[in-house]
Amino acid sequence: MLSAAAAERNKEPILSVLRDSVNTARPLQALEISSGTGQHVTHFAQALPNIIWQPSEYDRQSLASIEAYRAHYRLRNVMPAIHLDASLPHPHWGGIQPESLDLVVNINMIHISPMACTEGLFNGAGAVLKPQGLLLTYGPYAVNGQITPQSNVDFDYSLRQRNSEWGLRDISLINSIAQRNGLFLEKMMDMPANNKCLLFRKESLV
Ligand SMILES: C[S@@+](CC[C@H](N)C(=O)[O-])C[C@H]1O[C@@H](n2cnc3c(N)ncnc32)[C@H](O)[C@@H]1O
Repeated sequence: MLSAAAAERNKEPILSVLRDSVNTARPLQALEISSGTGQHVTHFAQALPNIIWQPSEYDRQSLASIEAYRAHYRLRNVMPAIHLDASLPHPHWGGIQPESLDLVVNINMIHISPMACTEGLFNGAGAVLKPQGLLLTYGPYAVNGQITPQSNVDFDYSLRQRNSEWGLRDISLINSIAQRNGLFLEKMMDMPANNKCLLFRKESLV
């Protein structure tokens, strides 16, 4: 059971956004992409028992951690974690069927992965979400070409030093990728530590 300090800090604020954004009475199906340690999915699953959660990860060590959390908490509404590379087309997303999900959650991946992962995330979410389904992304973003405050400018610089394909993405760029995939930015919320939650709704078929 790996533990990430950031996940511990942000799990409750993100849960609060989920509570306000999803139906907490009806049975729902959710996929978390890049579940990391497994702290988020187990926290959300305990608080929102009406949702069946499918955790996923690209990193094999993290997959083992998610499984350790799952075993520890014995949560009946968390499925065994699957290996999922967000940059791949959704037919390679571990058998998740098109239009089968109410919710996709992705926390702190977009800026710590190549753009192909963001493209794949929105392309895949556009395919696997039901009409009116929701994609929640969380992290630090640029707004209209500006990164604020200085701590996020420094963070962006340090990410790009570590990997030239990483870095904070602009919300307008993300929004244009989302729209190409039938997802529309419904809400943008300021979160603690200069992060944001973005909520994208999949358009209904007319
Ligand atoms: C900063 S961690 C965030 C983990 C977790 N969501 C959290 O907030 O604690 C970034 C995550 O992105 C994942 N990641 C990197 N490349 C990926 C890819 N191609 N597909 C899916 N996840 C990827 C990493 O394995 C890592 O778990």
